[in-house]
Amino acid sequence: MTDFLTLAQERYSCRRFADAPVAEEKLAYILECGRVAPTACNKQPHRVHVLRSEDALAKLRRCTGSHFGCTLALLVTWDKRESWKRGYDGQDSGWVDASIVTTHMMLAAHEQGVGSTWVMHFIPEAVRTEFALPEWEIPVAILVMGYPADNDRPSRLHADNKPLENTVTYR
Ligand SMILES: Cc1cc2nc3c(=O)[nH]c(=O)nc-3n(C[C@H](O)[C@H](O)[C@H](O)COP(=O)(O)O)c2cc1C
Repeated sequence: MTDFLTLAQERYSCRRFADAPVAEEKLAYILECGRVAPTACNKQPHRVHVLRSEDALAKLRRCTGSHFGCTLALLVTWDKRESWKRGYDGQDSGWVDASIVTTHMMLAAHEQGVGSTWVMHFIPEAVRTEFALPEWEIPVAILVMGYPADNDRPSRLHADNKPLENTVTYR
């Protein structure tokens, strides 16, 4: 069994996908891994839109150039009516909650041999219009997915992680 650090190190942003569709049971497993993610006060304000019909994928291509020709994508949003708000300053946990759900699914996909890239470079208003999102639903991430193509490779940024002393302090 792969330990977590190895899984986390080996996962990379996949930007070339094979033609084969992702198996239904793998998609179900990935969605389940998102379902059990922690959220603030367990409010679970996230929503996951599975984009895989021709119509949905055409809409996706109108929202972002970073679709990489995928045939499956998960659009992750959150409902601002449901998310937890911190009473002291009104900070909203929706962004964090949806991001944790997305992270679970991204790592679960890799474990299942499914490549993905987290895409934030999308036009928010296009997403809202194309997928008819109500005013209270906030798009956070699009996880474009598929089996990695044979010639897919991690980008040079993949291994470019700062040393711990640059990001961790002990007090
Ligand atoms: C919040 C977030 C937003 C990102 N948005 C995009 C994007 O819009 N397009 C893209 O090609 N990659 C995007 N990425 C992928 C990052 O560029 C990538 O994770 C980073 O360069 C490290 O490479 P690796 O994932 O291969 O380890 C995003 C990643 C994160 C976490």
